Amino acid sequence: MPMAKLRNIIKTLSIFFFLIAATAPSLSSATSATDTFVFGGCSQQKFSPASAYESNLNSLLTSLVNSATYSSYNNFTIMGSSSSDTARGLFQCRGDLSMPDCATCVARAVSQVGPLCPFTCGGALQLAGCYIKYDNISFLGQEDKTVVLKKCGSSEGYNTDGISRRDAVLTELVNGGGYFRAGGSGDVQGMGQCVGDLTVSECQDCLGTAIGRLKNDCGTAVFGDMFLAKCYARYSTDGAQHYAKSHNYKTNYGGEKTFAIIIGLLAAVVLLIIFLLFLRGVCSRGGDFSILHSFTLI
Ligand SMILES: *[C@@H]1O[C@H](CO)[C@@H](O)[C@H](O)[C@H]1NC(C)=O
Ligand SMILES: *[C@@H]1O[C@H](CO)[C@@H](O)[C@H](O)[C@H]1NC(C)=O
Repeated sequence: MPMAKLRNIIKTLSIFFFLIAATAPSLSSATSATDTFVFGGCSQQKFSPASAYESNLNSLLTSLVNSATYSSYNNFTIMGSSSSDTARGLFQCRGDLSMPDCATCVARAVSQVGPLCPFTCGGALQLAGCYIKYDNISFLGQEDKTVVLKKCGSSEGYNTDGISRRDAVLTELVNGGGYFRAGGSGDVQGMGQCVGDLTVSECQDCLGTAIGRLKNDCGTAVFGDMFLAKCYARYSTDGAQHYAKSHNYKTNYGGEKTFAIIIGLLAAVVLLIIFLLFLRGVCSRGGDFSILHSFTLI
């Protein structure tokens, strides 16, 4: 086949691939905001493929997904023959999610953590609606106030009136009680969430720290996120809505991109097959490639 023809074919295919990959994110952006990727992390320790730990970890992840259909928090320990083979894990859904939404969120988190943390003993993933974590070391029931993610919005256009409303909402959250807290005043919305393995007083302590840091570190920002290892607090204002929307792709590399790549790959395979069939048809009709050009121009 002449080089120029080959180049045309490749060009056509890649244009289709590009178009489909580019439109896929806008198709999937209709999915609920609970799927938004917030952060992920993996341990340094790796396990070997087909090891006892891998099969324990798989049972653990399956248990998390199943359990999320009837509970918003649960923990599991899958005992191995040695302690290094024991898989421990938990999930926590945001307190305002319905059971079906919780289950969907945890299933999505589990499906994303594998590619994110290939063969690592420990992994954690936070989507907007749920959190999952697993490891072979014990972390269940231990309060941990390590800052995992801190994000403050721009401080442009946020007035003192807004700041005092923000502070009032945050104070309301500190005093709220419970593992999930939400509040709002005017254009300010705030929420806090503990992981269910903390005691009530540990949860209070953790959220107190998160909210205190949010106030100090984010100053006059239009939104703030403070994720500690076992709890988080966030607030946003109407001014942040525009920011969040226009910056969606920066944080949301998980679901939408994977979706786009899968759709893109499937489309490329289908196009390739159609193309080969088409090519065979053309060849058997005497090798007239002129039709190829109009195809390329579409
Ligand atoms: C976790 O597994 C890794 C890899 O097998 C091992 O090196 C480490 O000692 C284990 N940790 C615990 C606490 O058993
Ligand atoms: C883990 O789950 C078990 C059984 O559901 C429960 O009794 C235990 O309190 C949980 N542990 C933590 C630390 O949440």
